[in-house]
Amino acid sequence: MEKAGGKRILLIVGGGIAVYKALELVRLLRRNDHTVRVVMTEAAKHFVTPLSFASLAGTAVPETLFSPDEEARMSHIALSRDADLVVVAPATADLLARMAQGLADDLATTLLLATDKPVLVVPAMNVRMWMHPATQRNMETLRADGIAIVGPENGDMACGEYGPGRMSEPPAILAAIETKLAATSHIAHNLTEPNLSGHRVIITSGPTHEPIDPVRYIANRSSGKQGHAIAAAAAAAGAEVMLVSGPVSLPDPAGVTTRHVETAREMLTAVEDCLPASLFIAAAAVADWRPTDSAEEKIKKTGNVPPLLSLVENPDILATIGRPGPGRPRLVVGFAAETQNLLAHAQAKLERKKCDMLVANHVGRGSDVMGGDSNQVTVLTRAGAEPWPPLSKKAVAERLIAACASLLAESAR
Ligand code: CTP
Repeated sequence: MEKAGGKRILLIVGGGIAVYKALELVRLLRRNDHTVRVVMTEAAKHFVTPLSFASLAGTAVPETLFSPDEEARMSHIALSRDADLVVVAPATADLLARMAQGLADDLATTLLLATDKPVLVVPAMNVRMWMHPATQRNMETLRADGIAIVGPENGDMACGEYGPGRMSEPPAILAAIETKLAATSHIAHNLTEPNLSGHRVIITSGPTHEPIDPVRYIANRSSGKQGHAIAAAAAAAGAEVMLVSGPVSLPDPAGVTTRHVETAREMLTAVEDCLPASLFIAAAAVADWRPTDSAEEKIKKTGNVPPLLSLVENPDILATIGRPGPGRPRLVVGFAAETQNLLAHAQAKLERKKCDMLVANHVGRGSDVMGGDSNQVTVLTRAGAEPWPPLSKKAVAERLIAACASLLAESAR
């Protein structure tokens, strides 16, 4: 398990029978050298006393939102801003609903609304409450807000029912917290120059062209700007960079070995030729389908009947390279271009294509991501989703390379 050590955790404890697991979580966090501040909802205090948490955390549990002497010592804003990570465990259906609504009617929800730090929630509730469309809607909202979610697990519940809703066990929550802390420091706050010397990096970029006949092809609007910017950033970080580019009108980046390809199948072959590598970043907008047969000669108009185009699926380069096994790059990063349900689709893609990291962006009509110079992405890892602010494609590339360099350095330890 990655262990960031010495971080400040604000633990918000909701009211449910799983509160007892939160006590164990405090003990585990402290054993990993983290400082823990605990805030309890009024409902939580029905299950365990603040004194129990204060004893384990080694610091007092602030009582209410409107306590004059506590407010004088430390404002609630400071409490939420001073943390490196805010963890909500157990996160009850009610607390999650209030978070999704942006309510701030007690100390816990006020802290959650006031924080500018990453938040990780650990749901725990009855199976029916978890499955209820309202709760699922709220979870979707929280996911879209970039909140990381751990669990819930399937199992026997305190109420006698069986199904999803049981709070994850403290060691699993601890593992997710450590991963989140590590990813957060890699992704958002990496101020040191990334160093990729000694690493080979393969990057795909641009669209692919799938020929219909010698003069016509299927393509998409990708310009290759983001993939090429990533190649340049990786080269600046000292990597040996192999850029496999579809047809673009950009110059080859300096200090990079560029291989030019047309089709998805050529792109896959070129990528496989470049292996082994430490890092693979699939930034290309690969055509999902190609014409079943590409005509040898230009297709001529014959009467009034337009030709029928029959398509077959192209190989999935990212899924092929991400497949677990010997020779898999240590870090595999995908992109997800979506026109709707960005986070849900991106999360599914992360799992399906076995990526370690996925950069999701919205490419609907009116978005200028494809062809433009800026990009607003959300970066997903198994630790959760992190929305990045709108940035130039160059800045996205630099941040991404910094994040990958830290993750590679971390995985080598
Ligand atoms: N990708 C790939 N090979 C393909 C298709 C996609 O390597 N044949 C990679 C892209 O480079 C990107 C990621 O997979 O990193 C996701 O691409 P995207 O077009 O968003 O996803 P699709 O696989 O096309 O899935 P869907 O059609 O569901 O959006």
